[in-house]
Amino acid sequence: MDGEEIILGIETSCDETSAALVQGGRRILANVISSQVDLHAVYGGVVPELASRRHVELIVPVVERAFQDAGLTFADVDAVAVTCGPGLVGALLVGLSYAKAVALARGVPLVGVHHTAAHIYANLLAYPELEPPFLSLVVSGGHTSLIYVRAHGAYDLLGQTVDDAAGEALDKIARALGLGYPGGPAIEKLAREGNPEALPLPRAVVRDHPLDFSFSGLKTAVLNYLNQLAQRGEEPNRADIAASLQAAVVDALVERTLAAAELTGARRIALAGGVAANGRLREVLTGRAAEQGVRVFLPPPVLCTDNAAMVACAGYWYLRHGLMAPLSLNAFANLPLGAERGWGKAGEKKTARAGK
Ligand code: KG4
Ligand code: ZN
Repeated sequence: MDGEEIILGIETSCDETSAALVQGGRRILANVISSQVDLHAVYGGVVPELASRRHVELIVPVVERAFQDAGLTFADVDAVAVTCGPGLVGALLVGLSYAKAVALARGVPLVGVHHTAAHIYANLLAYPELEPPFLSLVVSGGHTSLIYVRAHGAYDLLGQTVDDAAGEALDKIARALGLGYPGGPAIEKLAREGNPEALPLPRAVVRDHPLDFSFSGLKTAVLNYLNQLAQRGEEPNRADIAASLQAAVVDALVERTLAAAELTGARRIALAGGVAANGRLREVLTGRAAEQGVRVFLPPPVLCTDNAAMVACAGYWYLRHGLMAPLSLNAFANLPLGAERGWGKAGEKKTARAGK
């Protein structure tokens, strides 16, 4: 390994078909993201069967486009990294099967990447100077987790949501407000015109688990409020609701993250996941952390939402640390973070390129 390996990254865990080529773990040569938002918008959420079928149609043209953008061919690829869980199994299987075919045909290593790990690694793409150990807050449509990244591929889960993910709560309330899917960006836009203190919303704490999150009470509170207004025949002030909701979610996230930084002594926090694109979260977390002398890393929004460049970046570091996967790798709806460590040796034997 000379440190300049080119990794083909593949991401199909939910409703984005994405392929990327990343060199040396930090140089993005191509990052093609084909969103299925329009396909699912009419249903107010992702329909798994439709997502899988769309991935099957898109995976080949999306990868071809990535090679065109980068001016490369399959012969230039040193390893294939693919999201293998958690996510929609039917959707994951499309990317995984494709990645295996490339690894087999080219005789290059296959690297299986946990979706949350990939989100964390978006930070290493944006900030090449960032190296473990650091603390990460991963907030997406499926996850809300506080993770201490001890070393490459080694994670300590400090806290997580006990019910809805932050993005899921935003998406569900946005749907109730008639804002469409995905809800997060719509809530953020509308919140700019609203008063964040208009609606007193609960800031739930999880008993005996101060670093865990709970967002279902928040969701219920907003839905109840909307029902009460409807019964009285009153129109909701949607901007005030959006602003109050966003403030409550951001408060919960920032408070736990700073508590985790204090507990672990971490001086660096890497923000990750789709909700990390939220301007208020970025601003409040950065400001509050600075007061404690902690630096916050913020990937650009395009690297916060699902994309394959972050998968390729994680794949690069996993490859360097011998965390390859066997060609028998499966897709997982649920997968513990760090499971990649267990695949290491088997993967090395079965997928390492002959003579390398
Ligand atoms: O990471 P991601 O693209 O997919 C998952 O792995 O879930 O995250 C999608 C989530 C959705 O819930 C979406 O509403 C939320 O991220 N999101 C945002 C923003 N952009 C995307 N939430 C708040 N503010 C945003 N600007
Ligand atoms: Zn994601």
